[in-house]
Amino acid sequence: MTIDSIKSSLQDHFQTRFHKRGQVFYAPGRVNIIGEHTDYNHGFVMPMAINKGTYITIAKREDNQLNIFSQNLSEAVSIENINSFNALTGENRWANYVAGVIYFLIQHCALDGHTGADIYIYSNLPMGAGLSSSASLTIAVGYAYQAIYNLSCPKRRLAELAQKVEHQFAGTLCGIMDQMVCALAKESHALCLDCDTLTSEQVPCEFENLSFVICDSSVKHSLADSAYNDRRASCELAAQVCGEKTLREVTYDKLVSFGEKMPKESFFCAKHVITENQRVLEAKRAMRAENWHAFGALMFESHQSLQHDFRVSCDELDYLVELSKHFDGVYGARMTGGGFGGSTVALVEDQRIDEYQEYIQSHYSHQFSLSPKLYTSRACQGVRSLM
Ligand code: GLA
Repeated sequence: MTIDSIKSSLQDHFQTRFHKRGQVFYAPGRVNIIGEHTDYNHGFVMPMAINKGTYITIAKREDNQLNIFSQNLSEAVSIENINSFNALTGENRWANYVAGVIYFLIQHCALDGHTGADIYIYSNLPMGAGLSSSASLTIAVGYAYQAIYNLSCPKRRLAELAQKVEHQFAGTLCGIMDQMVCALAKESHALCLDCDTLTSEQVPCEFENLSFVICDSSVKHSLADSAYNDRRASCELAAQVCGEKTLREVTYDKLVSFGEKMPKESFFCAKHVITENQRVLEAKRAMRAENWHAFGALMFESHQSLQHDFRVSCDELDYLVELSKHFDGVYGARMTGGGFGGSTVALVEDQRIDEYQEYIQSHYSHQFSLSPKLYTSRACQGVRSLM
């Protein structure tokens, strides 16, 4: 289905449900090609937006009520007065992402007068696959809402509000990579983001005969969120023991000299972060030089470090990377996103993609009795109106 046909079918659904015309907005999901668990350590990341995402059809209301319908869940949630929103609990928790970002926007922009909206959501991003379905949702909703109310909230500020939703309403102390790339991505470019200054560089990411293949392992470990927060705490402790505010200021030599004074897991988490920051900068140079072999080698190294030092991989992801390593035509592969399941990303020669997909599918299902889902994507544009 093309974006245009999805748009017109969503407008029809919106009309049927809310009896008025809605405007359609879209934000993509993302794949992080290198730079994992560095964002909340004020380091470097290199994600790109992918060709799947979240569609928001929306219209203002003449009151303060929020009516939200999710086509994927086939569920509706109504919030009588969004100005005094309190987090939802239980089955409706998913709507916190929608109401949360709107609530923060209203406060941030000091919107007075009516604040209500009718919202119809549809996403073609798989959930729990580590492709940022929640950042895609919060950015799409926030962008759509500020557009219909003419709030002109800058994209970077919107990303910060969307991150605050994760912190306050979902309990994940995530960094800002996902929200920033969903908001700022440019077609045919990866976004090299300095998470210390929040400045970014658009790095050309177009290939003659290579593509990124994303493989959703179909695994999501239930402890992923608490393990994420634990890793973050380990990193913060390492920086503190080294006498610095964040790991961005800690060199590898300094870490080694303070190594004895911190728990082993803090040392290894910090080692990953410091070396991963270096890899992102090298990857950026390799991309600019179109040296895809060097780039691929950095992807494999990144995975090793996430597997052994940061310890956020799992057997399924390790196996997918191992399989990729032994396939002629793969330049590099690694787990992507928070870890403990989710997806891998591999850089693969176009002419070998079909064979690669069959190879992964048959070996992986044989080993784990799970069926992986494979996607290819070019680097796509970030949030936008589909008017
Ligand atoms: C999740 C978080 C990001 C980032 C990655 C790991 O996707 O939302 O902020 O920390 O994990 O790199």
